[in-house]
Amino acid sequence: MQLKRHLYLIGFMGVGKTSTSKQLSKKLGLKEVDTDKMIVEKEGKAISDIFADSGEEYFRGVETGILDLLAEEAPCIVSCGGGMAMREENVRKMKRTGLIVFLVAEPETIYEHVKDSTDRPLLHGNMNVPYIAELMAKREPKYQEAADIIIKTDGYAPFQIADQIIEMVEKI
Ligand code: S3P
Repeated sequence: MQLKRHLYLIGFMGVGKTSTSKQLSKKLGLKEVDTDKMIVEKEGKAISDIFADSGEEYFRGVETGILDLLAEEAPCIVSCGGGMAMREENVRKMKRTGLIVFLVAEPETIYEHVKDSTDRPLLHGNMNVPYIAELMAKREPKYQEAADIIIKTDGYAPFQIADQIIEMVEKI
C-alpha cells in the first residue's frame, strides 16, 4: 500500500499508539514520528518538566505547532500525544493532511500500560482505574468525532493492530 497522506494515531495515553506506529512504519516502509518526542526535542526537556515549568496550555500550543511542521513533511506515521484530538484546531489540521485512526482500549488495559509511567503529568497522583475511566469518558466524544477509523486494541499485539489498520485504510 502506498500512503499519500499522513496516518495519525490518536487515543488515550497507554492505548498502544507508539508501539503500533512502529509496526506500521516497518510494514509500510514509512518514517514514524511521535509528537511527544518532537516536543521534548524542541523544548529540550521532559514532558513533566514542560507542564511543571510552563503549564498545560503552553504544552498544548507547542503540540499544535508540531502539526504545522508535519504538514510540510512527506507522508508518515504520526503517533500523537493523548490530548492532540481535544483541540478542534488540531483535528482540522490533521484532517487536512491525513487520515485519523482512533485506538481504543478498556480503562483496565490502559492502567496496566501506564501504571509505572512517571512522565505522564495528567496521571500524577491519579494513577488508578476510576480516574482513567473518568477522563477517558470525557474525551471519548472528541476522539470519536475526529476518527476516520476506530480500532479496539485490547488483547491484540501491536503487529495485529497494525494489520487491522492497513486493512481498513486500504478500503477507504
Ligand atoms: C497527554 C498524553 C501524553 C502527553 C502528555 C499529555 C494527554 O502522551 O502528550 O502527557 O493529554 O493525554 P501519550 O498519549 O503518548 O502518553
